[in-house]
Amino acid sequence: MDYSSNFEKKFLDIGTGDGRYIYKKALENPKNLYIGIDPAKNLEEYQRQINRKRLKNAQLIQSSIENYDPKVENFFDEISIILPWGNLLKYCVTVDKDFFQRISGWLKPGGDIKVIFGFNEELEEKETKRLNLRDLNEKEVEFLKENYSILPNLQMTKFENVFYLDLETIETTWAKKLKFGANRNYFTISLKKI
Ligand SMILES: C[S@@+](CC[C@H](N)C(=O)[O-])C[C@H]1O[C@@H](n2cnc3c(N)ncnc32)[C@H](O)[C@@H]1O
Repeated sequence: MDYSSNFEKKFLDIGTGDGRYIYKKALENPKNLYIGIDPAKNLEEYQRQINRKRLKNAQLIQSSIENYDPKVENFFDEISIILPWGNLLKYCVTVDKDFFQRISGWLKPGGDIKVIFGFNEELEEKETKRLNLRDLNEKEVEFLKENYSILPNLQMTKFENVFYLDLETIETTWAKKLKFGANRNYFTISLKKI
């Protein structure tokens, strides 16, 4: 992928899952660049579709965020993290400063980080135990909000906590799956690089 090509906007989706989101977005917006990374081995189907349609503006990379280095600075217009699990979820719930600092370096000034995450201690017992996460009470939600609002070089422009999220508006595979599942405690957070 030639990063120097003239794309109008550049997007990075961390923990992109099967790559459907990247494929769809790239198809709909040929002037923009969409890069999706995920360590899971299920990118093949949408990689095939990307190849078949000869999309020059879509790239799927099999990698965890820990091993990913785009070797760019001030490059992306938007970085998204949509319905993460595993370590990626942990970074979001603990508001890991190093993580946010690292990824914000890849973002243009004025660019946005968009995070949507949700979990439920009862529904995801094994995973939440493994990550040492538990449902947050009101005070803890306030603490989370405060932590997001003091991240270096990032201005929090949105913080929403809802038990019901309109998953129709999220175009990823996992959002479609969760649509039929139970509600969770969801957080939608936007951060602007300053
Ligand atoms: C529930 S899926 C959501 C996938 C996609 N964003 C969607 O909405 O369809 C969570 C994804 O987070 C990815 N993930 C977990 N830890 C990660 C890490 N350290 N780096 C990158 N992705 C990670 C998983 O591989 C998984 O595909």
